[in-house]
Order: sequence, then C-alpha cells, then structure tokens
Amino acid sequence: MPRYREITDDNEDYSDYVQVRPPKVQLGPKKTPSEILGEIVEATGLEDGFNPTFQPAKYEKVWLLSSLGVFYEQHLINDVLAQVKGGKEATVYRCMAYPETGLELVAAKVYRPRQFRNLRNDKMYREGREMLTGEGRAIKRTDHRIMRAIGKKTTFGEQVQHTSWLLYEYTTLEKLHAAGAAVPQPFAVSDNVIVMEYRGDYHRAAPTLQESVLPQNQAQAFFEEVLRNIELMLQHGLVHGDLSAYNILYWDNRLTLIDFPQVTDIRSNPNARFILERDLKRVCEYFDRYDVKSDWFKLAKDFWEKYAEPELEVENLLADLSE
Ligand SMILES: Nc1ncnc2c1ncn2[C@@H]1O[C@H](COP(=O)(O)OP(=O)(O)OP(=O)(O)O)[C@@H](O)[C@H]1O
Ligand SMILES: [Mg+2]
Repeated sequence: MPRYREITDDNEDYSDYVQVRPPKVQLGPKKTPSEILGEIVEATGLEDGFNPTFQPAKYEKVWLLSSLGVFYEQHLINDVLAQVKGGKEATVYRCMAYPETGLELVAAKVYRPRQFRNLRNDKMYREGREMLTGEGRAIKRTDHRIMRAIGKKTTFGEQVQHTSWLLYEYTTLEKLHAAGAAVPQPFAVSDNVIVMEYRGDYHRAAPTLQESVLPQNQAQAFFEEVLRNIELMLQHGLVHGDLSAYNILYWDNRLTLIDFPQVTDIRSNPNARFILERDLKRVCEYFDRYDVKSDWFKLAKDFWEKYAEPELEVENLLADLSE
C-alpha cells in the first residue's frame, strides 16, 4: 500500500484519486498533506495556464486537471465552471468552450479512474460486443496479446475494456446525433473523457425527467418523442440499455437522452430483447403517472418484429451462406 494513501482521511470521496497518477515525488514522513498535494499538482504540469474557476476538493483537482488539460491544450475547453453531477461511473462538469469553437458551454463527462469505477453489471451488455480500441476500431479476436491481457484481467487488459466502454458511448452519440436523435452532440473524446453538447444554462444544468414536472397536456407528445428515439435506435440496430426518467434530460421544452455506455446491439447480443423490454417498461411506467396509457409488452413485441427480426434473418442468411 503506498504511503500517500495516508493523507486521504480528510476527504473520503476523492481519497483514492491520489493513487491514479502516482506523483513523481519522494514522500518524506515530515510533509503535510497540502505540501504533498502541491507537489503532485506540480508534477502533473497542468496548473500553468489552466486554472479553472471551479475549485474542486484537492484530490479531485489532480484528476480533473490531468483529464481536462488535453482539451485546454486543444483549445476546446478554457474553463471548468462547476460540477454538474457525480454519478457511479463518471462526474459531469459544466465547462466554458473556447470562443473560436463557436460554442458557449459544453459538458465534460469525466470517467472515474479505472480502478475506482463501479461499472454497472456490464456483462449482460458486453455479450456479443466487439471491443473498441482507443481509435474506435474493433479489436480482432485474433489479437492474442490483447485478448490474453483481457482474459487475465491485467491492468492493460482492464484499461482496454474501460476505453472500449467509453468509446461505445462516444461512437453511439456520433451515430445517433447524425441520425437526428435527441442526444447531445459529441465534440471530443479521450481515454477517460467525453466532451459533448451541454443542456442547461450558466446557473443550472438541465434536470432529469425524474426531477421535472411536465406540463400535463404535453406528456403524450413527450412520450411519443421518447418512442421516436427508441425506434431510431432500433433502426440503427441499437437498444439504449439503461433508459429511464433518470437518463432523459428536460430543458427548454425538449427532451435529451443521455448515458449510452451500455448500448446494446440487437444483432449480436442475445439479451437485447429483454433489455428493450426493460427500457420500454420503465418509460411507460414513468409516463403512466401523467395518465399516458401504453402497453410496454406490446410495444416491445411490435418493435422487435419490425426492426430486429428482419435484421436477424439477414444475419442468419449470411451465416448460412458463409458455411
Ligand atoms: N450533456 C449534458 N448536459 C447537462 N447535464 C448533463 C449532460 N450529460 C449528463 N449530465 C448530467 O450528469 C448526470 C450524470 O450523467 P450520466 O448519466 O451520463 O453519467 P453516469 O455516471 O452514468 O450517471 P449515473 O450513474 O447517475 O447514471 C446526469 O444525470 C445529468 O444530470
Ligand atoms: Mg445516468
């Protein structure tokens, strides 16, 4: 156990972050925690120039500066204004964009350090999924070095899996945004950050549907907007996988679907139908409180027959031909 864990007692939330980027400093027994932290920040070399308005707890700061520094250097983000929300896997920040990007505010979803993420039980989603490399290419099963590392759960193998998870979110946002879905436009990605369109204003990020009260006379229209997005995803062979009132934002009389890392492919994941049913059930149950009547089971069946079955037939045909 490294000695610098000893300084973590006064900040539980970010205590483990100190381990992420082991400081290139000698820790002597007489140093105070703040002296040690100062050295860590200095060692990351990022404080120069990039000094965000938002002042996180000191342990978070090291992680934040080293994660977002690259976007500062690329002239995408020039300030971090506030933390929007810390989730299980990531923390989202409201950031100011460089004026030359033509954007005002952007959202930066910063994934927790790999070893401290509490990835949702992702086995069900990963089934049938190809792994993506840092460049978004599929990793070949014949790449023995990578497959062995994943199998053995080495640090490198775990990193590949986590990068893959994040890239699924990014490439899905790209695909769906281009197709006209109500999702944030993605702008940039690194191995632990996605920078995307921000919903909200300078004071407040968009609340989730769960935190909002919809105008009763528009509830039906919003329900249909969610169904339009579910259908659009199915047309691209995808199921959200964690759709609920917690992952839909409501702002400016518009809905935005977020949080896509567990997106599921209908062709290759044998659990896809169950996952689609669960998404629809949660959405229908939410809108039921506004008296919007629906039958999630029938919707799932109809959607499945319309979009998934023809795809699966083609897949089977191709498989037969290649035998
Ligand atoms: N583009 C955005 N604009 C404004 N706020 C956002 C945006 N994306 C995410 N958020 C806020 O950040 C929160 C966390 O985002 P997201 O759901 O993608 O991450 P998560 O780590 O999977 O969270 P959770 O574990 O809570 O599901 C959201 O509930 C929402 O409040
Ligand atoms: Mg979420």
